[in-house]
Amino acid sequence: MAGQSFFDSDHFDSGRVVLPEIELVRGLGKATDVVIGIAGSPENSSLVGASSELKSRAAKAGISLNQLISEGVGGKVDQVAELDLPGLRVVGVGLGADLDLDPEDLRRAAGVGVRRILSRQGTTKRRILVSLDANTTAQVRAVAEGALLASYRFRKLTREPAAPGAESIGILGSSRSCQQGIAAARITSRAVCVARDWTNLPPNLLGPNDLAEQARGYLKDAKIEFEVLDERALEKAGFGGILAVGSGSARPPRLVRLDYRPRGAKKHLTLVGKGITYDSGGYNLKTAESLKTMKCDMAGAAAVIAATRAIADLGLTVHVTAYAPLAESMISGSAYRPSDVLRIFDGTTVENIDSDCEGRIVLADALARANADHPDMIVDIATLTGACMVALGTQVAGLLASDDEAADRLLDAAETAGEEFWQLPITAHARKQLPSEVADLRSKADRYGGALFAGAFLQHFVDEKIAWAHLDIAGPAWNAGTAHDYVPAQATGMGIRTLIALATLMSD
Ligand code: BES
Ligand code: MN
Ligand code: ZN
Repeated sequence: MAGQSFFDSDHFDSGRVVLPEIELVRGLGKATDVVIGIAGSPENSSLVGASSELKSRAAKAGISLNQLISEGVGGKVDQVAELDLPGLRVVGVGLGADLDLDPEDLRRAAGVGVRRILSRQGTTKRRILVSLDANTTAQVRAVAEGALLASYRFRKLTREPAAPGAESIGILGSSRSCQQGIAAARITSRAVCVARDWTNLPPNLLGPNDLAEQARGYLKDAKIEFEVLDERALEKAGFGGILAVGSGSARPPRLVRLDYRPRGAKKHLTLVGKGITYDSGGYNLKTAESLKTMKCDMAGAAAVIAATRAIADLGLTVHVTAYAPLAESMISGSAYRPSDVLRIFDGTTVENIDSDCEGRIVLADALARANADHPDMIVDIATLTGACMVALGTQVAGLLASDDEAADRLLDAAETAGEEFWQLPITAHARKQLPSEVADLRSKADRYGGALFAGAFLQHFVDEKIAWAHLDIAGPAWNAGTAHDYVPAQATGMGIRTLIALATLMSD
């Protein structure tokens, strides 16, 4: 089967992502590059994190660091200027107009600085020092995350050696809370970058079983129970949705279940991630243009797998179960058809109006399964609707929830994580459109408000007593443009930091 021998076997394994070493340092040491901040308005700005050691290095060379300011870098977080000292490049990044050092501004600024350093071609491995005067755990964590997330590169599928990246990142600081911030950032950033890698892999190399095996390998050394249901087990248990969506592919579907159950956990959080390894649209075939990015349609599954490992590595005291329904939506003589009636895990029958609605079908099975565990909260995450992208664009994800308390909990988590979500309603009008002429539910209603109908459809599979939130990441999961801040082009890893922050809120 495709993917089993590709160049040399070491080109495709679960250890693809190589993040630079990151540690707390007290001085410039052997750094090749240093990132400092510039805060204030363009007319009245000051340097942030310019240590006395750095100032005297500059003075010895007869150069003033204030030259960075004269380039007009001030209030804006995405601005950057450079200055060369002998053997050391100084990169000044904008930190915002005020001096409050908001974590997300720090995360972005660190990302902008590191990206600028790594964008220079033909350089040797860089030893980067980031000096942005971060002090609290949250600030240091944000700086370290920004730097690590900006260091991510997809290792090309080629025999050519990889371009040199960052060798190490030092964060200037001293306190214990700095250590803790860096340790947390290592864990969260690795999760985000592993998920980016899975999402960037081409669909010939990452079918449903391949992703399940990637997850198995990735979780091997974590304290997480791992289980995969194959097509026979899915059949036996009654997962008619996952089987139907996967039926057109030569590569059969899977359902991955993870369970992290630490001692002393009082709350139970269940995560569900859409894992369509390629969404052709099926018999409702997509256009050539919209097929281009459809390998990203498993970003939700990647997110819940990666987040669960990070939650375990952080040692959070919350019981977390994750479900990743994995299928490839293709066309063939055995593919499911528009107008087929499918039977979901909980017995609900669904009229398949449009085979391109495959996401909500596999999620229905997984949500019904999650519901049977009776957790305190269920959160699903999915590249679900183009309608959500139309509503919120490519950088803000949709949030639909059972009630405002659940929604607010997610929004709080997203705020600490530095990810943007906007709540959309599940309207009575959307619910009214659910019944089908031939089955319990139909999978699609009219064109308008597509993200809301999808939310109403998913909610059917979750008990009213369980808090539930649905994250539609169709827009922000994939960056079709160029890299910005700490976000690379292509797969972004959207949502993972929010899921980790949510588990942190629910941890004892
Ligand atoms: N995977 C797509 C949604 C999507 C679109 C993700 C663009 C990322 C970028 C989903 O399966 C889909 O095809 N949704 C349809 C639903 C429609 C048929 C009701 C859509 O949005 O067009
Ligand atoms: Mn689709
Ligand atoms: Zn899809």
